[in-house]
Amino acid sequence: MADLDDLREGSEYGIGIEQKTRGYHLKGCSNLDWGVKDRLSRIFNPKTGKSVMLAFDHGFIMGPTSGVERVDLSIVPLMKYADCLMCARGILRSVVPPSLNKPICLRADAGTTILTKLNDNRIIDIEDAIRMNVSAVAVMTAIGDSDMEAVSIKNLYRMADAGMKYGIPVMGVTAVGKDMARDARYFSLAARVCAENGANIVKTYYTEGFEKVTACCPVPIVIAGGKKLPELEALELAYKAIQAGAAGVDMGRNVFQSENPAAMIRAVSAVVHQNMKPKDAFDLFQTLCRPSNRGRKPKQA
Ligand code: R5P
Repeated sequence: MADLDDLREGSEYGIGIEQKTRGYHLKGCSNLDWGVKDRLSRIFNPKTGKSVMLAFDHGFIMGPTSGVERVDLSIVPLMKYADCLMCARGILRSVVPPSLNKPICLRADAGTTILTKLNDNRIIDIEDAIRMNVSAVAVMTAIGDSDMEAVSIKNLYRMADAGMKYGIPVMGVTAVGKDMARDARYFSLAARVCAENGANIVKTYYTEGFEKVTACCPVPIVIAGGKKLPELEALELAYKAIQAGAAGVDMGRNVFQSENPAAMIRAVSAVVHQNMKPKDAFDLFQTLCRPSNRGRKPKQA
């Protein structure tokens, strides 16, 4: 109990100094509740408005694919370079060190694997996400897949209800079926459907005409890296996406399957946060690959 005898009269009222109403660094997010914004601010750097998310949730549908056979050995050393970690709950609880204090985007739907039919998923209980203190939850949508579209959009919709109840942002992930065109028209539709159903972040793929995809999506978009490319091409992909309005990347294979994953994630980060040109970022990658430079801090662009 405060000592009532020492109740001092306040005097620092700042009369004449207007209280600043600050804006928010992410589009479409100004009207969200404080807790959602606080979590989004952990993921997206408030100074740049961008994020480098490191995705290593692949094992939950693919098993021990290349680069994630031993997450403790291959991914944990990279975590310090990421702004956010995206994974499923089993790896989070068993391998990700809680002492790292990195924001987590939890893969929050599960059900099938590459051995059967993908995306016939159920969402996890929001209480489990709260227990793990995650900063966002990610739900896959299979837009355009006549079998799984309805169930996956319902999953996203329900997760958005649960997320908003507890202040946890929801990322809508756009899965692309084998038969679908990977073009701006499809990704514009898919991203917009995710946002309209309550996604606070959308994860999709880069394509030609990506500025249309970002323009018609009212919330921040991050791009997946997709299949492994040569490093320079992956850096070009990230650069083009950022220039076209993406708020970051959620990259997996192009980082952890790189010949030097630590150098690659640092080069990607320079592209995302400093607008570094792909050629310069590739030079940075090569410099960081040299054994004598591995621990060094890269110069600002
Ligand atoms: C998406 O749902 C996947 O599980 C991965 O998180 C995503 O594809 C990003 O990884 P990559 O950059 O390897 O495509």
